[in-house]
Amino acid sequence: MTTRPLLALLVALLVVPGSLACVPKPKQDYTIEQLARLESLEELMRVQAATADPLFAKRKQSTYTEDEFQGMYRGALRLRAAATSLRDRFGKKFPARFAGFASQLLDGATALENAAASKLEQRAAAALESMRQACAGCHRAFK
Ligand code: HEC
Repeated sequence: MTTRPLLALLVALLVVPGSLACVPKPKQDYTIEQLARLESLEELMRVQAATADPLFAKRKQSTYTEDEFQGMYRGALRLRAAATSLRDRFGKKFPARFAGFASQLLDGATALENAAASKLEQRAAAALESMRQACAGCHRAFK
């Protein structure tokens, strides 16, 4: 009998942080053109998370399948559009370092696009790591 509340507490402790970390999904699927014109920074971030997080999870792999390279390529195109908008549109409302992080993300996404097209594992992994650092760096400074 006495173990029940303890178990419930344990489960709550394990489950709650996980659900807090969960980012809401974007409201819809956006075309690249729609992404470039999104007015909401929060929604743009949700698109970035939905696109980038599954790719970031693969950044330590040493090999990728054909499907994984294709997913990286498609994701890279979307993240390039998002990063360009961050740099050129949203960047105007923030100090210059904001656009710097957006540029780092854009460079990483361009490198990822090229690496995925040429199926270069190490370059793809390095591009993903650099992009992840751009997200984290900007969040530390501005989120
Ligand atoms: C140039 C700066 C910058 C970069 C780069 C950046 N972010 Fe953000 N991010 C922000 C800011 C500022 C906020 C807070 C925006 C708000 O809540 O209005 C934010 C918020 C978020 C949120 C929370 C959204 C919500 O639901 O409230 C997520 C998720 C997110 N970013 C994901 C990412 C991912 C993934 C990347 C990289 C692919 C990334 N961000 C790159 C500046 C950046």
